[in-house]
Amino acid sequence: MKKNRKIPTSKLLGDRAEELFEAARRVSEMAYCPYSHFHVGAAVLTSDGGIFAAPNIENASYSVTICAERNAAAQAVAAGQKSIVAIALYTRTATPSTPCGACRQFLSEFNPRMEVHCISDRDEVLRFTLDELLPNAFVISL
Ligand code: THU
Repeated sequence: MKKNRKIPTSKLLGDRAEELFEAARRVSEMAYCPYSHFHVGAAVLTSDGGIFAAPNIENASYSVTICAERNAAAQAVAAGQKSIVAIALYTRTATPSTPCGACRQFLSEFNPRMEVHCISDRDEVLRFTLDELLPNAFVISL
C-alpha cells in the first residue's frame, strides 16, 4: 500500500476520507474476478457514520456479476442504513474508473446527491456528486 497518499478535500468526508478509501482498497483484495481479472472495491459511508465495503463478484454466467458498488450499498441496506452520504470506488488501475450506469441508478435510490470518490493506484482522485454522473435518474412517480 502506498504511503503519503494525498487525501482529497471533502467537507462531507472530513477526517473519514482515508478510512473510507482504505476500506475500498482493502476489500478489492477479496474481489472474485476470475473472468475479467479486474479487481474493484467499493466502500460506502452512511449518514449514521457506518462504513460498509464490498468487492465485485463475478459469475460464469457473466451478466449476473455483481459490481462492487452495488454490493457495498447492499451491505449497508442489509444493516438497516439506507442513507448513503459518500462512496469510494477503488480500481487497481493507473487512472480511476467511474461507476457503471447500472450502479449509478442503483446508488441513486439511496441518495442522488451522494459524493462519489474514484481512486486508483496513483494519487489522482476523481470526485463527483452522483447526480452529476446520472442526471435525471429514473424514479417511479405515479
Ligand atoms: N465492475 C464493478 O465492480 N463496478 C463497476 O462500476 C464497473 C465494473 C466490475 C464488474 C466486473 O467484475 C469487472 O468490473 C469488469 O467489468
